[in-house]
Amino acid sequence: MKIDILTIFPNVALAPLSESIVGRAVAAGKVELSVHDLRDWTVDKHRKVDDEPYGGGPGMVMKPDPFFAAVRELRGDGQARVVLMTPQGRRFDQNIARDYARDFAAPGAHLIILCGHYEGVDHRVVEGLVDDEISIGDYVLTNGALAAAVFVDALVRLIPGVLGDERSADEESFAVGVPLLEAPCYTRPPDFEGRVVPEVLLSGHHGKIGEWRREMALLRTKTNRPDMLGDEA
Ligand code: ADE
Repeated sequence: MKIDILTIFPNVALAPLSESIVGRAVAAGKVELSVHDLRDWTVDKHRKVDDEPYGGGPGMVMKPDPFFAAVRELRGDGQARVVLMTPQGRRFDQNIARDYARDFAAPGAHLIILCGHYEGVDHRVVEGLVDDEISIGDYVLTNGALAAAVFVDALVRLIPGVLGDERSADEESFAVGVPLLEAPCYTRPPDFEGRVVPEVLLSGHHGKIGEWRREMALLRTKTNRPDMLGDEA
C-alpha cells in the first residue's frame, strides 16, 4: 500500500501517523506513506493555493492547478485512486475502511488523498481528479489533514500483519456480523479505590463471561447507540 497525502498542513497529518501502530507499520515498510505540502506545486512567488469564490460569499476556495499538477506528478504512469477529504463526502465508517483495506493492501496499490481547507475546493478538482469524496462525520473541521489522518489510521490497522493480534480487528464493534458496541473491559487491580471488577470476569468461566459480555454490549448499545438497534432513526 502506497499512500500520498496532499495538504497545506503536512505536520497535522504526519504527526498522528508517525506514532504507535501506524507509525510502526510505516517504519516496517508495510505502508509507504508520504505527506506532501501542496504549496510545492504552486508556481507563483507567494505560493498561493486559494482565491476568492466566483459568485461571491465568505471564505476562500482552493485553486485547482496545484492539485492537478501534484496528482499528475504523484500518479506518474501508474494507477492511483484519488480521495478528497471533505464534509461534502459520503460518511466514513468501518465498511468503507474494510473496502479500502481490501483493495489497497497489495504493495503496489496507490492511494492519493487530497485535503481541503477554507470554504472548499474548486469543483473542477472533484470532477477531473477525484474518485471518492469522504467525510469523517457530520461536523466541520478547520482542514482535511486531520480527517486524512483518521481515514489512513482506520485503513492501515486493517492491513494483515499490522495489528499484533489478528483477532483484535475481527472481534471488535463494527466488525462484520457484530452490530453491537463492545462490553466494558477491565485490567488489574481487581479493586481500584473500592470499584471492583465484576465477579464473573474473575471466574474463569468462559461461557458465563461470554454471556455477560453480550448482555453488557446490548445494554451499552441501547444506551449510547439506539440507532444501531433500529430503535431510533
Ligand atoms: N474537512 C473538514 N471537515 C471534514 C470532515 N468532517 N470530513 C472530512 N474532511 C473534512
